[in-house]
Amino acid sequence: MVRKQHNASLKGYNSFGIDTTADLLVEWESVADLVEFLHTEGKALFGGQWDILGSGCNTLLTGPYRGTLLHSVAKGISIVSDTPEGVLIRAEAGHTWDDVVAWSCAQGLWGIENLSAIPSSVGASAVQNIGAYGVEAKDCIESVEVLHVDTLTVGLIKGSDCAFGYRESIFKSALKGKVIITAVNYLLSRTPAPKLGYGSLQEEVAKLGEITPQAIRQAITTIRNGKLPDPEVVGNAGSFFKNPILPRTQVEALKAEHPTMPIYEVEGRPECLKIATGWMIDSLGWKGRSLGRAGVHDKQALVLVNLGGAEGCEVVALAERICKEVKNKFGVDISPEVNIL
Ligand code: EPU
Repeated sequence: MVRKQHNASLKGYNSFGIDTTADLLVEWESVADLVEFLHTEGKALFGGQWDILGSGCNTLLTGPYRGTLLHSVAKGISIVSDTPEGVLIRAEAGHTWDDVVAWSCAQGLWGIENLSAIPSSVGASAVQNIGAYGVEAKDCIESVEVLHVDTLTVGLIKGSDCAFGYRESIFKSALKGKVIITAVNYLLSRTPAPKLGYGSLQEEVAKLGEITPQAIRQAITTIRNGKLPDPEVVGNAGSFFKNPILPRTQVEALKAEHPTMPIYEVEGRPECLKIATGWMIDSLGWKGRSLGRAGVHDKQALVLVNLGGAEGCEVVALAERICKEVKNKFGVDISPEVNIL
């Protein structure tokens, strides 16, 4: 089924809890429904302003959306194949990401347990290449099923062709506006492969006495719940900014000036290092402070929050102020991880 709503309220469709509208919101339950709908209405729709709204957990809405938002409510997870080489699972684009992780951990499958408790959808896991605790979605994405908007034909893009990078993918660049993700296939494993190297994860897992996907999921959920606000209680979109990846020489100079600044190696890019934006914002004293009805979370400075009734432009104003101060103090440009619509 396809559900069309004109002048649709988006309050329940974005984790920042911004109260705004879209001229048209189209929700689709299956690829067949979507294709049928687009055969009749696609020309007008794609001729105007349109975008895809995933779970709205990584989106900041800045005003009434003057166009059509396409939103998948397609749900479902299945095992495609189960061999000694790996277990291939398929999830529909609209499935809640954390439900996929919960399901795979319950099956004893390894691969995405470190990505527990990330508010997202399956489609967005590929667009955004979501990542946490030393794992990125790309590590397990075998392929992405898409609908090409110009031909309304389905296609399959191999994970290795998705140009995945840190919070980047081909769906944010060359294929933006050209395809709609309909499902993602993840290659998981029954062979234990714990990745416990990040931060306090090892310690937290040790408290549970066993190393299973379930235990790691539990440990990560505990860590995240301690630092990140629940969007049901305080509107937010997780990390608001990316961590900049800079030339090693620039980072070494920054480190010399700010010895406590955390720095990280970047896989496959030995000439660069990654620095922690949360640490820079924190050191500017922004943690727990606010501007208008937008604020900086008091336990994680990378997270901007809606203190109640904020409009998107108030969050943008806060973000711009922080960017300017980071630039002044550290000489570094930071950019949003969140998609601003
Ligand atoms: N830090 C501070 N003060 C703060 C925040 C961080 O000093 O207010 C320091 C921490 O102590 C640590 C470093 O900065 O030394 C990095 O902080 P943290 O480990 O909390 O991770 P992050 O870099 O802030 C990234 C991801 C998160 C992910 C965590 C854990 C990005 C943009 N964010 O955050 O992802 O959960 O690592 O892997 O890469 C998300 O994308 O929405 C998200 C939550």
